[in-house]
Amino acid sequence: MEFDQAVREILNRADIVRLVSEYVQLRKNGQHLWGLCPMHAEKTPSFSVNPSRRMYYCFGCHRGGNAITFLSEVAGLTKREAIERLAAETGVQLPQQRPSDPAEEAAARERSEIMKALVVAQEYFVSSLYAPEGERARDYLSDRGVDEQTAAAYGLGFGGVGGGLIRMLEKRGVPMQIAESAGLVLPSTRGTGYYERFRGRVICPVFNNDGAAVAFSARILPGDDDGPKYLNSPETAVFRKGSMVFGLYQARQAIRQSRHAIVVEGNFDVISLAASGVLNVVAPLGTALTPQQVRQLARFAGRVTLFFDGDEAGYKASRRSVSILLEEGVEGYIVSTPSGEDPDSMARRGGRQAIEAAVADARPMVTWLVDSLVGVFGRSPHGIRQVIEEVSGVLAAEKDRIRYGLYREEVARILGMDVRELKGILGGRQTDVPGRGPEVPNSVEVSMLKLLALSPALIDTLLDRGGREYFQSEEAIAVLNRMFDLYASGGDLEGELLAAVSEQGSVMSAVASVITMPTGISDVQAAFDETFLQLRIAFLNRRLNELKQAMRGAVDEDAKMRLLVDVTAVERQLKEAGPSLWRFRGTL
Ligand code: GTP
Ligand code: MN
Repeated sequence: MEFDQAVREILNRADIVRLVSEYVQLRKNGQHLWGLCPMHAEKTPSFSVNPSRRMYYCFGCHRGGNAITFLSEVAGLTKREAIERLAAETGVQLPQQRPSDPAEEAAARERSEIMKALVVAQEYFVSSLYAPEGERARDYLSDRGVDEQTAAAYGLGFGGVGGGLIRMLEKRGVPMQIAESAGLVLPSTRGTGYYERFRGRVICPVFNNDGAAVAFSARILPGDDDGPKYLNSPETAVFRKGSMVFGLYQARQAIRQSRHAIVVEGNFDVISLAASGVLNVVAPLGTALTPQQVRQLARFAGRVTLFFDGDEAGYKASRRSVSILLEEGVEGYIVSTPSGEDPDSMARRGGRQAIEAAVADARPMVTWLVDSLVGVFGRSPHGIRQVIEEVSGVLAAEKDRIRYGLYREEVARILGMDVRELKGILGGRQTDVPGRGPEVPNSVEVSMLKLLALSPALIDTLLDRGGREYFQSEEAIAVLNRMFDLYASGGDLEGELLAAVSEQGSVMSAVASVITMPTGISDVQAAFDETFLQLRIAFLNRRLNELKQAMRGAVDEDAKMRLLVDVTAVERQLKEAGPSLWRFRGTL
């Protein structure tokens, strides 16, 4: 395809050493260059760049890839954005996806004019915070414990007293109709002219991944009574409300390094936590967390902790968010503040330690959900029935069969019910992903292969523990055998994996993706143990079904008896394997 050809050309021309050097100080040692990994926190360099293969690889966090994966990982761009940026830098012409259409070109022109207007506004807001007219806003921020460094990092500003922004926009040649489309001004209700939407307020800009302000969230100053507490930008050609997360631009480095994002309710919670030194924190701009916002976070984090106010609104918001986190396959934890507090007040009183202690106490989201519903409905038969109904509605969002089964067990444990009975009520998940046949390896088998690619010594452990027979898919078994051969013979396993990265559709390339894509795994051994258990449980369940089927078909009592003994043994093994599944945190 033309597009693939252009991408190959980009990769040929892009100077990976120069690109990486913008983010990492590199030092030559042998054929490779080495530096501190920008994707995880470390003190000794384990991040390497191989100039001749135009690849990078970190021996610490096992992420690697080419110039495109580097830019999308480290600069937080989508793959498409990274390709476009590198295409511009290397002078490669990307094939037009569609022949250019005048309406689309006009829309693109409008977007770029709106972006220019927003740059002017952001400059104006920051300068008026430090101008004499910004005194009340400055005092307000310092009363709230926001130091200048934090204010600068978040681009905080002041809306001015009215008139100044319009003058500045006019001076810079921004037509008022563009300023209106940008959400900065509104037609005046009386007479002609425009007035400034955010005048008199403290401005919290919302930045996109490139660090450009695309919207503003403006808080009223105490004592003023001109409208609601917050005024946000309306949706514009460059701002879709539900898809932006406040503070992500500032937080993403910290989120990427910890693979963990803390979500709070308010803009000022974000700012206050950041001022106290907790940097991996964002807020959803006043709406309930949306799937798009969760996907934004999932680009950097495997784990998301919702840190909400311990009031009714906070509980409700958390409950709603659980199904979205389940739906997006993100590992969620929930913690709430003591009543009467919010993360902001906790951070101001107890500093970073108080926040970290609270977050360390966060509970797995489904456990939290069931407990919180029991708190609402009680443990009477009517109450429990209500809890089950609510939970089943939320759990329906979980697409993964194995996680679904585990969550169901956890629900049964908390409610003190027999899991089989609960299964009768909640039902089971029939498929992992619709349309996947049994010949295609399931996600656990691929996860296991990925872990082996991350840490080949585990291949021995897997085979020692008899794990080979747990695999079902022929293709997965073939990959496992190939990996074992290379590993056992001291062959170039990593080279083979890197070579398979750009292949399409094969199990090998899915496995290889693990060395070029973020995995969210911090403890490979723990992840291996969990995945091994999942494989084993799936295997035992299949075995159990076979035995039960054989029992139904068995004619003589003797054979039935022997099968029953086997069934009991497998059931016991399953039971033993089950509960230990609740330790590991991370995703693959
Ligand atoms: P403080 O009260 O100053 O601590 O503000 P906060 O940022 O902590 O806000 P709060 O917890 O009251 O509300 C959470 C978020 O909801 C805010 O950050 C806003 O994004 C949004 N929000 C709050 N009040 C309003 C409002 O009146 N209008 C709109 N559109 N959004 C609001
Ligand atoms: Mn607040």
